[in-house]
Amino acid sequence: MQIETSYLGFRLPHPFIAGASPFSHHLDKIKRLEDAGCAAVVLHSLFEEQVTASTESRIHQMDPLDRAFATSLADFPSATDYPLTPDAYAEHVHRVKQAVRIPVIGSLNGTTPGSWLKFARIIEQAGADALEVNLYEVITDLAVPGTAVESQHVQLVADLKRILRIPVAVKLSPFFTAFGNLARRLDAAGADGLVLFNRFYQPDFDLKTMQVTPRLELSTSPELLMRLRWLAILFGRVRPSLALTGGVATPDDGIKAVLAGADVVQMVSGLLRHGPSIVPQMIRGLERWMEWHKLERLDEVRGRLSLERHAAPSAFERANYIRTLQSWGAASRQPASRENFTHARE
Ligand SMILES: Cc1cc2nc3c(=O)[nH]c(=O)nc-3n(C[C@H](O)[C@H](O)[C@H](O)COP(=O)(O)O)c2cc1C
Repeated sequence: MQIETSYLGFRLPHPFIAGASPFSHHLDKIKRLEDAGCAAVVLHSLFEEQVTASTESRIHQMDPLDRAFATSLADFPSATDYPLTPDAYAEHVHRVKQAVRIPVIGSLNGTTPGSWLKFARIIEQAGADALEVNLYEVITDLAVPGTAVESQHVQLVADLKRILRIPVAVKLSPFFTAFGNLARRLDAAGADGLVLFNRFYQPDFDLKTMQVTPRLELSTSPELLMRLRWLAILFGRVRPSLALTGGVATPDDGIKAVLAGADVVQMVSGLLRHGPSIVPQMIRGLERWMEWHKLERLDEVRGRLSLERHAAPSAFERANYIRTLQSWGAASRQPASRENFTHARE
């Protein structure tokens, strides 16, 4: 059975890789991922705010010594709250590269094109095989139109492609009016991979203290569905490799990601919950399922449930929407089966 895949130009033995997470803070944990058979690892991010604070003593053009910005800047973590300083991050990349044979993908996380992007070169020189740039941003300025945000993303990727030789993957949030068009523009700007999607981390309100409190809960399978939809829409219609991140909790989820069109499936919550042993489980689940369906090559699976060959994808999505609403009556008469294929066959 052939479950090899290719991501950002790297040939990988299977599609399951580790997404950016605290798992990569320590070399021994990355080695454990490799030992478990993980096909590649994305390191945790170095943040724009960290880089500009250390190299230019400012965060988003705000000077920490300027009292006018004191309240805004107090919301950011202090330099010592990050696991590694920018220089230590580059050293970490170097050490990881020396220690493992799987592809090591560095991660930058920020929003504005600017001099901080020079750090991408340092990560490349430290030995990273590729760079993932996470463009997590919530636009709160009511004067900023969506087109301006998209152009900024495209510009940032074009800037990175000018200074780097290694492949660049772009990790994005889903909330764009016409995500497909943004994907196409990032493709034209030279993006080598698209990583779909960031989770939208929404802080909660603490009713006792009346404070806004950040809270991170690990993902579950229902988060997968939005990712499947967009992968299915993009598969075969853009050049960059496609990675899915978000909501991959079981081997079934991994299979669905590939059916939608993922070249690789990034996992974080699953790894944090179960440890690296989830990787061989994902591989085994995929292989068993392929065997059951008498499929021999991953190429026969990838994108099989995408809209690539659909004559009218928008009409399909609209029809699907209407049918979903109508399914309520049927569902209440006969509850939908939530059978988990690979578990059911254990
Ligand atoms: C504790 C934690 C730390 C994370 N750190 C980063 C990070 O440094 N950079 C990044 O791009 N994503 C980061 N993520 C997001 C993950 O890479 C991933 O996109 C997200 O958790 C969805 O995948 P999952 O459903 O498999 O958890 C982090 C996630 C968690 C849970």
